[in-house]
Amino acid sequence: MEVIIRPDEDAVAELVARMIAKELRANPHLVLGLATGRTMESVYARLVLMHRQEQLDFSLCRTFNLDEYVGLSPDDPRSYRHWMNRTLFQQVNIDLRNTHLPNGQAADLEAECARYERAISRSGGIDLQLLGIGRDGHIGFNEPLSALRSLTRVKALTPATLAQNAPYFGGVEGMPRRAITMGVGTILECRRCVLLATGPDKAGIVTKAVEGPITAMVSATALQLHPRCTVVVDEEAGSQLQGADYYRWIFANEPEWEDYRK
Ligand code: PGA
Repeated sequence: MEVIIRPDEDAVAELVARMIAKELRANPHLVLGLATGRTMESVYARLVLMHRQEQLDFSLCRTFNLDEYVGLSPDDPRSYRHWMNRTLFQQVNIDLRNTHLPNGQAADLEAECARYERAISRSGGIDLQLLGIGRDGHIGFNEPLSALRSLTRVKALTPATLAQNAPYFGGVEGMPRRAITMGVGTILECRRCVLLATGPDKAGIVTKAVEGPITAMVSATALQLHPRCTVVVDEEAGSQLQGADYYRWIFANEPEWEDYRK
């Protein structure tokens, strides 16, 4: 695992957008794993700008999102499909047929989860997976106690997640209680993972995820097993990290990050 600490949320988004752009330019057929949520908004806004100003080309790229609420239609503005369409897909030159999210309205949810896993495999696997982190340590909707080798399946949302996302639904009462999510094992199969976290509310959980013991109680700790995982945080989210000086030295000195220091 590598940890990069940037001054603020804008610098985090800028760095992550540049990482994605670099991979997409090197491989126009890139299979991107995408995430939703507040932290991702500024990353996608930058990708849209790069598309408009620097001709960043999404025409051959394929995407798989981490999760979708059970029961919401793609036309529902609160569904992740709708959010992705308006936040990214409709703003760049991606072919919508190449964008994938689990179908939260499938009659047979178990079959839908198996279909989603097959679709990921058939695409050749995810090259770069973007991840946020919930206050309970979830990645995707892998709530505490998710099996560390789990595949795509339905998960019940914890009270912490319901509270975190309730504002999008006008309160917890109106929220779906379940979601389809890629499993922790699905995420660990991706060739590269990039987890972003910003703001003081994430400082405690980021420290557990990065420096704590691996435990199913904090799904993000499974990323410590991933051979190529980069965690990008702002000063606030990284404020409790014990190894901050060491991480800063690596970012400032290792050749891999040279392009990103400018
Ligand atoms: P956030 O969500 O970016 O809205 O904080 C992250 C997550 O819950 O995975």
